[in-house]
Amino acid sequence: MTTKKSILSLLENNRRQHISGETMAQQLGISRNAVWKAIKDLEKEGHKIEAVTNKGYTLYSNSDVLSVEGMLPFLTENMHGSIFVYDSLESTNKTAKEMAVAGATHGTVIIANGQTAGRGRYDRKFHSPANNGIYMSLILHPTLLWLNTPTLTTLFAAVCVCEAIETVTGKQPQIKWVNDIFLNGKKICGILTEAVTDFESGEIGWIVMGIGINVSSNEYPDEIKHIAGSIFDENEPTITRNQLAAKVINRIMSPHYQSESELIEQYKNRLLMLNKTVLVKAEPPYEAKAINIDNTGQLIVEKHSGELASLSSGEISIHNLYQT
Ligand code: BTN
Repeated sequence: MTTKKSILSLLENNRRQHISGETMAQQLGISRNAVWKAIKDLEKEGHKIEAVTNKGYTLYSNSDVLSVEGMLPFLTENMHGSIFVYDSLESTNKTAKEMAVAGATHGTVIIANGQTAGRGRYDRKFHSPANNGIYMSLILHPTLLWLNTPTLTTLFAAVCVCEAIETVTGKQPQIKWVNDIFLNGKKICGILTEAVTDFESGEIGWIVMGIGINVSSNEYPDEIKHIAGSIFDENEPTITRNQLAAKVINRIMSPHYQSESELIEQYKNRLLMLNKTVLVKAEPPYEAKAINIDNTGQLIVEKHSGELASLSSGEISIHNLYQT
């Protein structure tokens, strides 16, 4: 580990406590001047460090730079060496797919502070400004994931993100089928799960689970202003992005469901449109009542005629928010 990373690790592991330059120097077997230089380098990278005479250094509570060192105190699995943090990427899913093909292992995580070409479903742009979101992709091997039904992967991701947000913030997000996450009527997270097919066998070799969470932004482009929101208002965050990212990773990597049906129950508990009238954007579009999620993750709707339909994916807009 470099001196800078070791110092960051000490600071992240001792948040709300000052550590003197001398203690750091002794613990790491380096000079006080080397500590001072590392602190200056960390400040240049955006870490907000308080220096108090006779007490030492500590991170300000609003110091929120994504880093492996900042995540490690919150990770339950030993993920050292499996998490890669970047300041900026085109798209973490794109990098993850390249890494999967190049031989990355199950559980490799790519996280970026900002994306220049973040992508959503239907090849839409995913607004990914630097510093106030979490953009991450997990590389998962289908046989090492606890699920037997591949179509439930996306539902699993959505439930994990909701649970992680709820654990660290106390806020209760909900899910719009299939995998948009809403809080207070605004979309705060999108999930794009992609399969990397093995060229030789034609089978799914890897799953890339891409998750984009708006943590604390209030500014969105005009075209998404009406729908996009974030977990916190700009100066409100009570947690760091490292903490939340680590909780999401914990949920995904440490399965805690006894069965797929338990997962589906958890998913349904958070589903926004259950028992509500939705507009199914088929050809032609029609109104129906969302009544259930089946054991493969399909949405079951009841048409006005009483006929049932199973929807495997696609666009559903919530037409009315009244109970019917
Ligand atoms: C959607 O809302 O349609 C899905 C959005 C998924 C965005 C995430 S951000 C991390 C990962 N990288 C991407 O380019 N997309 C996903």
